[in-house]
Amino acid sequence: MHPAPPTVRPVHFWFRGQIQSVTDQPHTRTILQWLREDQHPYGTKEGCGEGDCGACTVVIGTRDDQAPEGLRLEAINSCIQFLPALDGKALFTVEDLAQDGQLHPVQKAMVDAHASQCGFCTPGIVMSLWAERENQNETPDREALCVTLSGNLCRCTGYRPILDAAQAAWKTPCGKLARGPIRQALEQLAAKPSLAYSYSDKHFYAPHTLEELSRLYASNPQARLLAGSTDVGLWVSKQLRELDDIIYLGAVEELKQIHTTPESLDIGAAVSLSDAFSALCTEHEGWGSLMTRFASRPIRNAGTLGGNVANGSPIGDSMPGLLALGGHVVLQRENETRELALEDFYLGYQKTALQPAEFIRTIKIPLVKSDKDGRHLFRTWKVSKRRDQDISAVCAAFSIKLDSLGKIKDARIAYGGMAAIPKRAFHAEAELIGQNLSEEVIRNAMRVLATDYQPISDMRASAEYRMQVARNLLLRLWYEFNERLMPEVIA
Ligand SMILES: Cc1cc2nc3c(=O)[nH]c(=O)nc-3n(C[C@H](O)[C@H](O)[C@H](O)COP(=O)(O)OP(=O)(O)OC[C@H]3O[C@@H](n4cnc5c(N)ncnc54)[C@H](O)[C@@H]3O)c2cc1C
Ligand code: FES
Ligand code: FES
Repeated sequence: MHPAPPTVRPVHFWFRGQIQSVTDQPHTRTILQWLREDQHPYGTKEGCGEGDCGACTVVIGTRDDQAPEGLRLEAINSCIQFLPALDGKALFTVEDLAQDGQLHPVQKAMVDAHASQCGFCTPGIVMSLWAERENQNETPDREALCVTLSGNLCRCTGYRPILDAAQAAWKTPCGKLARGPIRQALEQLAAKPSLAYSYSDKHFYAPHTLEELSRLYASNPQARLLAGSTDVGLWVSKQLRELDDIIYLGAVEELKQIHTTPESLDIGAAVSLSDAFSALCTEHEGWGSLMTRFASRPIRNAGTLGGNVANGSPIGDSMPGLLALGGHVVLQRENETRELALEDFYLGYQKTALQPAEFIRTIKIPLVKSDKDGRHLFRTWKVSKRRDQDISAVCAAFSIKLDSLGKIKDARIAYGGMAAIPKRAFHAEAELIGQNLSEEVIRNAMRVLATDYQPISDMRASAEYRMQVARNLLLRLWYEFNERLMPEVIA
């Protein structure tokens, strides 16, 4: 027999200098709807309603002992976040910035640099810059600011004056948030029992521990797991789907941890994409080129690695790299765990090996000992029409190990966008293993890619284009090996 469900209570979060208690809201009402329709400050705008344009950008504060005064501040898209997911957090909007009738330095810099025309994007841009300025003491260079603003679309002003304003905003040192009192308020919220929120006959649960989560899910296996809401949020905002009960993973501490063991990097399923990519880049520099190409800064702040893997989209961008590095997933159901190679996790188009009431607990990425001596090359590259905030036509990943004489000891190659699931290229791998690395050998592998994949044509790319790109990325790998990394090994 399962224990009684947790006692229902309101959603509590810090907003405008005090704790808000919210009831009587549908469990999938978005933060943006609540702000605009109930609270009526209209600074936060709605553009696309799907996380693309950044007009709805707000900043979320969460408890984090590593952050200044224990409060982490991050920009996210309020149009795809459900209000109950705010429980235990702090919410900041553009109305919080000006004090005593004086514009905040970020706002003033935007005015002075003529960085706003119609103004629709401006509150979102200001919030992204505000979060960055709170987190960075040194003025970032323009390239770094482009990453900060990668989720903020301006259609009329143009980015030159916006970047000028951004850099000018660091020149005035004042205007920093006093984080300590907010952290203390969140501390009090954290002491409350985990959230069980109810509206009509729908529930939103936010368990605090793995034990609570697995018990809840076992007693309600029809519930929808929710992590960063960057896929699920759109099912509601765009597809107008009615969701059943929701179990939110973002309050489960054990799922938000990253551990490095001698063998592997273990990333908890609810670790944000921002944190996961930082950890991945520390171990394998090859992730660097994907990190800033995956969605945008606010989506990476909210979305999780576990959500990307679980969603199992054929064009999901983390999976080719994880497959190439021999990643595993640790799955849990009640008290039982099992470990699967990632390639055994995907059974078909958006079909995974997850059983009812089973969830992803950890993603394990083996550490490659030869990574730092140049005999192992890992690269993952995404090709899409736009640089920022676009869906891959093809995403490729390669993990190639050489012996001291330049012979290929091991090769793992995986692609997204080439099949119904993220999938390894076994024929191309076999063509490489045991051969001395040379352009000819790479070109042979490029040819046999046609036996590994039969890509489809869709609005993003034709089948022919996809195959050509997939082949050319293998050639790019050869150039990286040949010219940059191992000229002394390759004859
Ligand atoms: C504007 C925009 C841009 C995007 N760009 C990219 C991109 O460039 N590349 C890319 O790959 N994706 C992209 N995405 C998709 C999305 O951001 C990613 O798939 C993200 O990693 C999903 O994680 P999440 O935590 O938000 O998942 P959620 O939306 O919370 O959940 C997604 C699915 O996974 C399930 N789930 C979540 N966690 C677990 C778990 N631990 N165990 C079992 N099931 C679980 C949920 O039930 C749901 O079915 C984009 C999305 C948006 C809105
Ligand atoms: S309204 Fe466009 S990202 Fe939210
Ligand atoms: S000022 Fe009009 S969209 Fe940016």
